[in-house]
Amino acid sequence: MDKAKRNAVIAGNWKMNKTPAEAAALINEMKPLVEGADCKVVLCVPFVDIDAAVKAAEGSNIEIGAENVHFKANGAYTGEISAEMLTACGVKYVVIGHSERRQYFGETDQTVNLRTLAALNAGLTAIVCVGETLEQRELGYTETLLKFQTKMALTNVTAEQLKNVIIAYEPVWAIGTGVTATAEQADEGNGFVRQALAEVYGKEVAETVTVQYGGSMNAKNADELLSKINVDGGLIGGASLKAEDFSIIVKAASK
Ligand code: 13P
Repeated sequence: MDKAKRNAVIAGNWKMNKTPAEAAALINEMKPLVEGADCKVVLCVPFVDIDAAVKAAEGSNIEIGAENVHFKANGAYTGEISAEMLTACGVKYVVIGHSERRQYFGETDQTVNLRTLAALNAGLTAIVCVGETLEQRELGYTETLLKFQTKMALTNVTAEQLKNVIIAYEPVWAIGTGVTATAEQADEGNGFVRQALAEVYGKEVAETVTVQYGGSMNAKNADELLSKINVDGGLIGGASLKAEDFSIIVKAASK
């Protein structure tokens, strides 16, 4: 295993928070704090904040992502946003298959796959989320589920396209709950994801893919989580809404 082969990526997922003016203010506060970081720094923001966020981040090391993308190029899909619309606005990354979308908005493994393909075909980097519920963990299905979700999300994704894929392991029970997975649980979950990648693309390719951990990662626990061999970065919810906390996580990933 060689962590140095992989990009460390710290991405914020703002979820349904911040107006455009608040987004610009937060990014302006973050910019000096994350300047010169030795990892990629990404903020995935609500659609309506994208324009303000891209402008505020201009000339800095912060890149902007979206929180979802539709799989069709255009057409009668009221309320949806295409990959091309995102790239036209300066978006570089997109979160796909977050558990909140799976839980509340009918996202399935099939639609996660379609969205991933659409994002990759448009030149976006896809941050694909996988993760088990507490019930699935207690039933002993964590490994099976993480491998299944990972493989389903990547159906028809080529090894070349995989270079623009990040997988985020986010145990559902750790999201927004303040209950963080232990560093060992995070490392194990990320390891299952990497095994699934190896089963499809081979070990050598699997070793190059960035696998993040997400779920109550914060300024206090980031160091330990990110020290694990399979944890190449984080997808951060609550703590990405606070400039100082987020910058501490970025610094932890830069070591
Ligand atoms: P929290 O960091 O708020 O637990 O959210 C994690 C998450 O869902 C990131 O996508």
